[in-house]
Parts: sequence; structure tokens; C-alpha cells
Amino acid sequence: MLRVVVLVSGGGTNLEAILKNVEDGNIPNTEIVGVISNNKNAFALERAKNHGVASFGISPKDYETRQDFHRGLLAKIEELNPDLIVLAGCLIKIPDEMIKAYENRIINIHPSLIPSFSGPGFYGLHVHEAALERGVKITGATVHFVSEIVDGGEIIEQKAVRIEEGDTPEVLQKRVMEEAEWIILSEVISKIAKGEISIGKN
Ligand code: GRF
Repeated sequence: MLRVVVLVSGGGTNLEAILKNVEDGNIPNTEIVGVISNNKNAFALERAKNHGVASFGISPKDYETRQDFHRGLLAKIEELNPDLIVLAGCLIKIPDEMIKAYENRIINIHPSLIPSFSGPGFYGLHVHEAALERGVKITGATVHFVSEIVDGGEIIEQKAVRIEEGDTPEVLQKRVMEEAEWIILSEVISKIAKGEISIGKN
């Protein structure tokens, strides 16, 4: 059984897709053992509760220092004892000590075809604003391993999405979610659960 912890910060539509795919058996032999959000008001936490999954709000505001927050986050993750950590709309920078402790066991979904429109400052709607500004005709989503470099880890899977005439950032974000993110993130977790993608120290 693949034990998975999902880190979120916002609406949780990627989390919802994962939860549904686990329940429907599209992601086999997997248990979402916990959902953690740095934002205690994230709707993603509601989604976890609605699916009967343990949910935790661990906010930097509750700690004296960023270091203490990192310690608190890491302690909760260790308690949940995951095989895999999934960043699904997680807006915090993952501390290096966590990346080292879970080397090649943390994956992220990014709403562009990395390396385009990725790296510091490229998150949420900013990604789609930049794609529209540049005038690219094709964008998409990427699942990658998390490394110390923001959006710089090994790419695992990508899916392309066409940009349509008159797209706004909001319309494009929704299409990229529906046609790419919600599909490839679950596909990658499923392949990890089936041993088709290896994780951890090779
Ligand atoms: C998604 O666009 C995801 O690619 C990015 O943050 C957004 C979060 O969406 N990392 P949600 O919280 O999964 O709805």
C-alpha cells in the first residue's frame, strides 16, 4: 500500500482529482494518509474532510520562526510516515532538510510546460498571465520531482494544452487544470503505486 501525504495551500482541485481517483480505483493500492495545508482556511482541507481523510492546518503564523515552522511541518509528516509526498497547489517553499529527508519522494504539479514559465514568482495565475503575454500557442502542465531548485527537479510527465483566441488567465488556468493537471498528477501517482515509476534513493 502506497502511503501518500498531500500538501496544499488553496482550493484543492488537484487534491479532489487524486481523492476521486483513489476511491474509483484508478490509483490502485494507495492510501492518502493525510492532507496538510499551511493555510488553515484552504478549501482543500474541507475537501479532505469530505472524503474522510485526516487533515491538518500547520501555519507559519503559529511558530516563532520559519525554522520552527519547518520543524513542525516535518514532525507531522514523519508522524504520518508517507512513502510519497505530493505538492498539489502547495505555495510554500519546501525546506532543504525535507527535500534531503525525502529525496526523490516529493512530486509537484506545475501549470506550465517546464522550463517555460517556471521558477520563482511563477505560481497560480501568474503562470498563465506570462504565457498569454508571451503569446505561446501551446502550454500545459508538468509533474516533476522536487529538488532544491524551484521547479527545477527531474521532469516525470507533461501534457500539452492549446491556448484559444481570447483566453483570459482564468479561462486558461481552468483548461490547463481540466485537460492536464487533474489527469497527469493522478496518472503519475498511479504509476508510482504500480511500480512503473520508481521513487526514493535509487
Ligand atoms: C494549480 O494550478 C496548480 O498547478 C498550482 O496551483 C494551483 C492549485 O490549484 N500548483 P488547486 O489548489 O489544486 O485547485
